Amino acid sequence: MTKTVFPKGFLWGGAIAANQAEGAYLEEGKGLSTVDVIPYGEKRLNVKLGLDTRFQVYDDEYYPSHQAIDFYHHYKEDIALLAEMGFTVFRTSIAWSRIFPKGDEKTPNKQGLKFYHDLFTECKKYNIEPLVTLCHFDVPMHLVREYGSWYNRKMVEFFCHYARTCIKEFNGLVKYWLTFNEINIVLHSPFSGAGLVFKEGENKEQVIYQAAHHELIASALVTKIAHEINPENQIGCMLAGGNFYPYSCKPEDVWAALEKDRENLFFIDVQARGAYPSYAKRMFREKNIEIITEPGDDEILKNTVDFVSFSYYASRCASAEMNKNNLSKANLVESLPNPYISTSEWGWNIDPLGLRITMNTLYDRYQKPLFLVENGLGARDLMNVQGVVDDDYRINYLRAHIKEIAESIEDGIPIIGYISWGCIDLVSASTGEMSKRYGFIYVDLDDKGNGSRKRTPKKSFHWYKQVIASNGSSL
Ligand code: BG6
Repeated sequence: MTKTVFPKGFLWGGAIAANQAEGAYLEEGKGLSTVDVIPYGEKRLNVKLGLDTRFQVYDDEYYPSHQAIDFYHHYKEDIALLAEMGFTVFRTSIAWSRIFPKGDEKTPNKQGLKFYHDLFTECKKYNIEPLVTLCHFDVPMHLVREYGSWYNRKMVEFFCHYARTCIKEFNGLVKYWLTFNEINIVLHSPFSGAGLVFKEGENKEQVIYQAAHHELIASALVTKIAHEINPENQIGCMLAGGNFYPYSCKPEDVWAALEKDRENLFFIDVQARGAYPSYAKRMFREKNIEIITEPGDDEILKNTVDFVSFSYYASRCASAEMNKNNLSKANLVESLPNPYISTSEWGWNIDPLGLRITMNTLYDRYQKPLFLVENGLGARDLMNVQGVVDDDYRINYLRAHIKEIAESIEDGIPIIGYISWGCIDLVSASTGEMSKRYGFIYVDLDDKGNGSRKRTPKKSFHWYKQVIASNGSSL
């Protein structure tokens, strides 16, 4: 076995999100959330973009979140499998509407709290550290209908009450918290990202950045609250990561790439540095945006996160001549195709070195520990006649990315852990498909919800087990 560069105590694991795995969408008091009205199929995109606002559940549509992989009832079996792989961290999210079904109640739903209590206790039984996202693409629908979701400042109060309730309740069980999953995705998918909908003729960017301001204030307050509850708590922000490369060395292309990166890093600049970045003023002026603030906001924002977490699937590419005709969309972020790298079956760039580039950029900029909390390959897995999924393509993808983490550690970057996405197959956030699989564990379920939901370890399960056991030296 070769010597590992991964530090002792480096966390290895995988991630899921409540809305893509739990199912049980109205069970034990849970309220309807945004994701529960996002159907599978043609209408999906417009609902996610906040353009189709017929928010209810229709009998003739299929909604993947309603049953998903039924993690709600299978969690003991699933956690046991993750423990068998040797996980030391498991990332999931709490469904806000399980704790506060409408979102604006004073008293939490006890059954919701109990579910997560049992789940985190189950993790601890195997010495698995839970990493918990408070809001992963699901806002209680009542808050959308009554208040207009994050566009309304009242959301800060509701979210803080929800967060305080959870952080207090799970004190001693959970120490790593993320406030918002991929906070920058609000730019690209405003309804699924933050429950935003638009009125005819409205300046969408005004709505999005005002909502973002409220999220940033809420995130900073929750960071403060979490530290008050327990100074040991570690709070992170979460970026949908992946640097933009300039399409060429033409100065205009380099500038375009810098601006595209800033669009995403804007959020982390606030959460990690504690103030709006210097370029924000001009950006808002040029986009005709006026952010309404309250006295004291500047002080609140000074509550910066303890670590910077991010997802990394793909790098992106930008030029001064980007237009609708030459763009592709990977993980909702528009990019020019990069001729030097291959893509996944869903057109997402495969660029392991891009991970090292992203990590170095983030660390140079923030000087805070990093945590890679999502990475993986969405692929169409087929089970052979022996009932085995030989997913060598996934192993190759993950191996190449983990190698770049090792390089980044050698570059001097402190990194808390590596968390692969969808450690057990789950519903795809972008397409709603089950056939876009990421897991080490196969779940028998198709795009329309048919199947036994039986769990079967894939070849990558055994590979990852050995990676963890060797602390990354055996890849
Ligand atoms: C991230 C999200 O954007 O990418 C996850 O945080 C999502 O929720 C993951 O599932 C992969 O994207 P997709 O669309 O392939 O599920």
